[in-house]
Amino acid sequence: ATVEAASPAGSGRRRVLMFPLPFQGHLTPMLQLAGALHARGGSGGLLGVTVFHAAFNAPDPARHAAAGFRFVPVGEGVPSGDLLPSGSDADFAGALLRINDRLREPFRDRLRQVLAEEEGGGAAACLVVDSNLRGMQLVAEELGVPTLVLRTGAAACLVAYMAFPALCDKGLLPPPSQDKAQLDMPLDELTPLRLGDMVFSPTTTHANMARCLRDLLDAARSSSGVILNTFQDLESSDLQKITNGLGVPMYTVGPLHKISSGTESSLLAQDQTCLEWLDKQEADSVLYVSLGSLASMDEKELLETAWGLANSQRPFLWVIRHNMVKSSHEVSLPDGFEEATRGRGMVVPWAPQQEVLAHHAIGGFWTHNGWNSTLESICEGVPMICRPQFADQMINMRYVQEVWKIGFELEGELERGKIEMAITKLLCTEEGRQMRQRAKDVRDKAVKCIEEEGSSKSAIELLLKRIMSF
Ligand code: UDX
Repeated sequence: ATVEAASPAGSGRRRVLMFPLPFQGHLTPMLQLAGALHARGGSGGLLGVTVFHAAFNAPDPARHAAAGFRFVPVGEGVPSGDLLPSGSDADFAGALLRINDRLREPFRDRLRQVLAEEEGGGAAACLVVDSNLRGMQLVAEELGVPTLVLRTGAAACLVAYMAFPALCDKGLLPPPSQDKAQLDMPLDELTPLRLGDMVFSPTTTHANMARCLRDLLDAARSSSGVILNTFQDLESSDLQKITNGLGVPMYTVGPLHKISSGTESSLLAQDQTCLEWLDKQEADSVLYVSLGSLASMDEKELLETAWGLANSQRPFLWVIRHNMVKSSHEVSLPDGFEEATRGRGMVVPWAPQQEVLAHHAIGGFWTHNGWNSTLESICEGVPMICRPQFADQMINMRYVQEVWKIGFELEGELERGKIEMAITKLLCTEEGRQMRQRAKDVRDKAVKCIEEEGSSKSAIELLLKRIMSF
């Protein structure tokens, strides 16, 4: 029996099923969306949430107990090594293909089981699936469950991905050469992007990238709707292009972290003491440095970063994740670094990033431009030093620098003198002050979108109605 047959529209309590990709930057927005929907539909007991998840990077059910979410592990027998990016510079497209391949069969079994169990107490309305999980979407289709797709990245990125096949047809992708001049070639149809921004990572093959993007676009086009974690006033023209190009309903519901807290979805323990340290710093004075959950640097880059921060003479809060330094089990900061930065620098293994960025002491963010970090920075009016590494990060950087003009790229090899100059530019010059002002103007637009009648709040209402109507 199809899900519709099990529980016709309007019959009362429903459940929304969700399947996030097992990485921090994807898990968090999916759980925030769950929180936002549950807050609106759950108060009357109308909408329950069931979260399917890979056994690796699993969310902690105990932290969502109050909301009553149900968590269902999938593929416990699949070794996490099969699902993780591999290679010295991680191959994420390869990992995405393997995740879809390895979790598909186990998901079929679990979904069947859950559909049978949940038939009585509020039947499943639909599956909200990460846009990278086409394999899970196919399983849902097979079992008669409608799907919605969550895009956790920027609208700009989706527009770029939609243009990918045409760029291949024109012979522009894969780039005919790896020359800087070639990679810096502007893409007229995707201004302000350059050809190199469309290359996922140096270690991802073009074939894997093409397959992943074909799956992603198939997932979006065959869904009952695409949900985007961005907001109208930030990306209206790209959102219009997506509406025109995909032909399915769109729900622009971001910034999700401002609608529903995601702190309980952090996979690593957040060091709260840095907030007390920030309380003692002057307004707009501190540089926050973090590369998100996956990006990394080698030992030489760590050394240059340390001395760049030290020599800048500015206060900083630096996140050094346990696995952030390539091929190094124990991270050691250079001799003399601690003395040189005593009293004005703090290093933590993982920070409560949203609270950090919202703190009045933060004056700038050195970021890898993962979309969550970029959006979180935008929403607090914090300008950025951009150091993108792979996937959508170059695209996000380009928009920060060229479109919103709220930051700039730190290009080329990491070197202490260049770092010092970038920090000074962001925190101590008129140019940096203007970027901060523009960032605060964009933040004000974000605030409007999530007000009661704002575009994102209205989109969540529409989305909820849609879910209840399946
Ligand atoms: C990944 C991809 O790398 C990124 O390009 C894509 O847009 C989303 O998936 P990630 O690299 O982890 O994500 O970056 P990002 O999207 O910025 O997400 C990181 C999340 O971790 C943010 O929500 C941030 O608040 C949180 N974080 C980061 C912490 O809670 N503490 C920290 O110390 C650092």
